[in-house]
Amino acid sequence: MNHALPKNESVNIIRNGGVNKKFYITTPLYYVNSAPHIGHSYTNIAADVLARFHRQLGEDVYFLTGTDEHGQKIAKSAQDAGLSEKVFADKMVSVFIELWKSLDISYDDFIRTTEERHILTVKNALNTLYENEDIYLESYEGWYCTPCETFWTDLQVQSAGLCPDCLRPVEKLSEKNFFFRLSKYQGWLIGYIENHRDFIKPLSRYNEVLSFLKRYKLNDLCISRPRARLGWGIDIPFSKEHVTYVWFDALINYISAVGFSYDEAKFKRYWPADLHLIGKDILRQHAIYWPIILRALNLEPPKMIFAHGWWMTGQDKMSKSRGNVIDPLRLVKEYGIDGYRYFLLRDVPFGLDGNFSDEAIIKRKNSDLANDLGNLVHRSLTMVEKYLSGRLPQARELAQSQLKEDSDNLAADVGMAIQRIDFTAALDKIWLIINQANKFIEETKPWNLLKEKKSEEMDSFILLLVEIIKNVSSALSSFMPSTTKNIQEQFSGPIIKKGIPLFPRT
Ligand code: MSP
Repeated sequence: MNHALPKNESVNIIRNGGVNKKFYITTPLYYVNSAPHIGHSYTNIAADVLARFHRQLGEDVYFLTGTDEHGQKIAKSAQDAGLSEKVFADKMVSVFIELWKSLDISYDDFIRTTEERHILTVKNALNTLYENEDIYLESYEGWYCTPCETFWTDLQVQSAGLCPDCLRPVEKLSEKNFFFRLSKYQGWLIGYIENHRDFIKPLSRYNEVLSFLKRYKLNDLCISRPRARLGWGIDIPFSKEHVTYVWFDALINYISAVGFSYDEAKFKRYWPADLHLIGKDILRQHAIYWPIILRALNLEPPKMIFAHGWWMTGQDKMSKSRGNVIDPLRLVKEYGIDGYRYFLLRDVPFGLDGNFSDEAIIKRKNSDLANDLGNLVHRSLTMVEKYLSGRLPQARELAQSQLKEDSDNLAADVGMAIQRIDFTAALDKIWLIINQANKFIEETKPWNLLKEKKSEEMDSFILLLVEIIKNVSSALSSFMPSTTKNIQEQFSGPIIKKGIPLFPRT
């Protein structure tokens, strides 16, 4: 895949990057048991914006996404579809890949947990942990939730006999399994988190993990499943009777994709990851299990884990099991790729939950996109056509004004907000300029400049507008890649000609 920015695109952002800096960003691996919905697309769109932004800074970006293909959930769905697990997974993977294409997701690598490079790495990691006696065999009895593939204690299940996560019935299971010594590293993890304030974001999640770790003693993690009960998993190299628990398998993807155990140079280049972007539902696995697994393997933890909120319908999390999912492809068809991308990152501060509704997206599209941005571009192009016969005036030094200053600072302001992973603040800044520019047109009354034959003023007026639009479009390009490319093209020919409106009203 070629994700390079167009050569001539002006990279108008604070250059705090540089070719030697790398940026390794990951999304969760999505379960292939069902088709992706808004929630899955949210993580990938956010990761895509960050990846594009860091590429714009000139960094060597490695953007990883992929699919989680082992475990009971997938085995069950394959069985229901009358297919083998692998054939079923192959089919579903193409649905994910198609969706990412439709959403302009510029990933550099797509990892499947059924790939050889991953299986090899999982076995390698298991062997190391086993040799170091961080893994041991023990009989275990507990309440098991099949859909969540999680054991719960009496206390967690309580008298209702329901899974505390998904509220479905659990069953009592007793079996011999391999356990990973999470508890041994609890003290280390607490210290690490205390000394690294940016390790878990946002702050509310940082506090949540830290207070959990301080309040409860960690149980060791069951990392195997008996083959007799569940065969669809990676073989445990030191036991014929067991396969690997799907969560242990899946987390390892973050190192298997960048070469751990088979490409030392690549691994050295990209590990530790700069950012694991996840939803808050999988914080425990990423902020507790994963750093401890890495520690036991003598590897560095990722630099940052950011957990975003949930898209809800009404009071409920959007999820397949709740039957309230919305297909992103329908939204792309109705509101355009960039309309959809913009809405997800603008409407709800990243980190909080948000309510999805068609009304909300229509409102954003008609007001922010069609009215504000679309109008600014359209009116400016119209004026160049009408007042200047489509020719941009000769470039010249423009007089200082508050608007010019704000526009000059836009790249830096937006850059800082994106570095903080605060998408709404970045977009707010951009829209502030767009709205100021629209006001500037109304206040300047260019039709009067024309009547009074003030051609110098007219030229400066148009040049400032064009400069603002270029800055806006550069700052917006990670969020709305195809719209901003379109804007840049409309302003780049020798004769400026306006195309069809960017955002037809819905
Ligand atoms: N396979 C595991 C992750 C393994 S990562 C090593 C998994 N998969 S999942 O398909 O169930 O969900 C993955 C992610 O999708 C969630 O963490 C979250 O990023 C996103 N979302 C799923 N539903 C969501 C919402 N309703 N809202 C926002 N994002 C949510 O868990």
